[in-house]
Parts: sequence; C-alpha cells; structure tokens
Amino acid sequence: MNVLVLHGPNLNLLGEREPTIYGSLSLAEIDARIRERARALGIAVKTFQSNHEGALIDRIHEERRWMHGLVINAGAYTHTSWAIRDAIAAVAVRAIEVHLSDVEAREPWRRESRIADVCEARCFGRGVDSYLEALDRLAGAGG
Ligand code: DQA
Repeated sequence: MNVLVLHGPNLNLLGEREPTIYGSLSLAEIDARIRERARALGIAVKTFQSNHEGALIDRIHEERRWMHGLVINAGAYTHTSWAIRDAIAAVAVRAIEVHLSDVEAREPWRRESRIADVCEARCFGRGVDSYLEALDRLAGAGG
C-alpha cells in the first residue's frame, strides 16, 4: 500500500510553534516516526509539507495514480478550504484527516472541517500518535 502524508501551513514550525498545544517534536522528527510506523506496517510512504494551498492540491493530483491512501493534516486549511476538499474528492482515494491537537476542545471555528465528508476518519488530539493511528487505520491494523 502506498500512502501520501500531507502537512499543511505552519507545520514546518513544529517544535517551536506553540509547543504547549502542538508538542515539542519537529516536523522532521514526526516524519521519522511516520516512516518508522509505515515500515512496520509494510506501507510505502511519501511526506510533503507546504504553506500553500495550491501546492498541497498539486501534490494530491500528482500522486493520484501512485497513492492508495492519503493522510492529511491540512492545518488551518482544514477549516476553510473547499478546494482541498474537492481535490480529495477528485482523486477518490481513501483519506484520513489528522490533527495533532484536540480541535474539538479549542476555539469553535476549529471544530469545523471542510474536508471531513471526503475522509473516512478523523484522528486528532494525540500529537504524533494521531498520524500513526491514521496509518494503522489505512493498513487495517487500528480498527
Ligand atoms: C492543526 C489544528 C488546526 O486548527 C491548526 O490551524 C493547525 C494545526 C493540528 O494539527 O492540531 O495548523 O491542524
């Protein structure tokens, strides 16, 4: 199984960005944990971060024939981007929405997700484990 993991805006600053909310791991450390779990599950994984909505959409399009699953932490675009929602719908792959923080327990606007209806699950509030849970789900190892 091939899985694309996308990280959206501001996630390049993980480790220094509001660590009480997002934790102390850098994005490189999170990607290393993702690669480690993917290897254990027999998943081929690619990771990509961008602060630009169009770049995230381009990558979804580019990988559409390669990937079987998409794990996406779209950052704040989660709450605003119909365009990312439509890109996920357009490529018709299994997708899982991820957040490090507990978006249900923060500001009300973070409870809204534009992409939830094209994702088969939402994994959030568990830091890096939210990403690992998403990989487990795609591999059928996490229920
Ligand atoms: C986030 C939650 C979003 O509300 C926020 O805009 C982010 C990160 C998370 O991983 O908890 O940038 O997606």
